[in-house]
Parts: sequence; C-alpha cells; structure tokens
Amino acid sequence: MTPPDCPNPFSRNISICQHQSCQRHGSLAVLKAFEQTRLPPGVTVNGTGCLGQCSSGPTVKVNPDNVWYCRVTQADVPVIVEQHLENGEPVDALLNPRIHFKFSF
Ligand code: FES
Repeated sequence: MTPPDCPNPFSRNISICQHQSCQRHGSLAVLKAFEQTRLPPGVTVNGTGCLGQCSSGPTVKVNPDNVWYCRVTQADVPVIVEQHLENGEPVDALLNPRIHFKFSF
C-alpha cells in the first residue's frame, strides 16, 4: 500500500449506544466521559443507535478490534482508555460475555 492508502494502525472508533435502553442506564454520561478524556491519536468517538445488546447496556464497541463492552459506566472509561486504547489490551472484566465467549474445561 502507498502511504495515503495505508490505514493508521492506531486508528480506532468507539461507538457508544445512545438508544433507549442504554440511555436509561447512563450511556450519555459514558459518551461524555469519552469525549472529555484525552484519547490517543487516531481514536474517534461517536454515539450510535441500538447496537443490538440492549439487555447488557450501556454498550460500547471498539472498532476495528471488534471488542464489545457491556454495562459500561463513566467510571470505566479511564481503564478502557489506558488499558485498551493506549496499551492494546481489552478489559476482560467489561467484555460482553454474549459476544466474547469464554470456555473453561
Ligand atoms: S439500546 Fe443500546 S444496544 Fe440496544
């Protein structure tokens, strides 16, 4: 790829559901917390419509990682920023178990 076609390896988008169920559980505060936080270069934030995980909201999705967080509160934002966005390690305790299955035998 030539440089203009090469995606920024650090670019990410954070989508935060702002539909009814998630809003009832505080998703607007989560969106504002991300917007008011100094994010790494290339990270964008936006509110979205329903992401289909209404029973476990507020739902936050990080792309292109395809990482889904559930029941996120504004207090969770610093750890998501530091651990995931700055250091590349998703926050296990906040992963949506309906999407990120964990099996142990
Ligand atoms: S209302 Fe947020 S995922 Fe459906």
